[in-house]
Amino acid sequence: MRHSIRRFQKMRDDGNPIPMMTAYDYTSAYAVEKAGVPIILVGDSLGQVILGHDSTVPVTMDDMIRHIQMVVRSTEKSHIVGDLPFMSYQVSEEQAICNAGRLLKEGGCQSVKLEGGRSISKTVKKIVQVGIPVMGHLGLTPQSVNQMGGYRVQGRSPEESQILLEDALAIQESGAYAIVLELVSSEVAEMVTEKLSIPTIGIGSGAGCSGQVQVFHDILGLIPDFSPKHARRYADVGVMIQNAVESYVSDVMDKKFPSDEESF
Ligand code: KIV
Repeated sequence: MRHSIRRFQKMRDDGNPIPMMTAYDYTSAYAVEKAGVPIILVGDSLGQVILGHDSTVPVTMDDMIRHIQMVVRSTEKSHIVGDLPFMSYQVSEEQAICNAGRLLKEGGCQSVKLEGGRSISKTVKKIVQVGIPVMGHLGLTPQSVNQMGGYRVQGRSPEESQILLEDALAIQESGAYAIVLELVSSEVAEMVTEKLSIPTIGIGSGAGCSGQVQVFHDILGLIPDFSPKHARRYADVGVMIQNAVESYVSDVMDKKFPSDEESF
């Protein structure tokens, strides 16, 4: 049985930080679950780190369903959150319910995440009412990068922090079970966390959130020349892969591979 959303509320109520991480395929999700991550996000950040786009905007429902299926197949206990991609929930409430349902029915995840505040709160309520748990996402909302004019810290002015708080309260009121706060100044993220009764999950939003989420590729250094300030690099796997492949290439070229032991 997978972890339910009630577990994350209990962790928050007991003061236990919630570790969340992205994974996008069978192999990465296997390692993430084995490492003890109770909640895995199949984020639309896959548009950049897996598909090679320059933003999350081009990601489609089919992309999301395919990758959610891979993550679901290699995990047993982790709660899987599937991201609703850009323009899969903004057109109408009917469209949002249908697409949220597709992520659960075809992808196999247990909840969905979508970006936005008051403008999307009625949609969140409708999705929750049909029985689909929703995680909100406020602060930097990458699907709106073209409107925001770049990826920068949110909630810096008193006006911005008030808007963020009102958006968070509206999303909570609509029935969301948690809210991601991305690139929100630490003080504002802590203030919002204190005012809410559901968990906040921070990324680049300081230590005052109820949990933290990080992108698999960032903390493992899989893309060596991309290192966001908010990500701690726990390994340099990208460099390790390149070194290993270089050794293989030179062994083949120097006729050192395969050896007799590796042959039949
Ligand atoms: O798509 C994603 O990976 C996300 C996280 C950055 C929270 O939304």
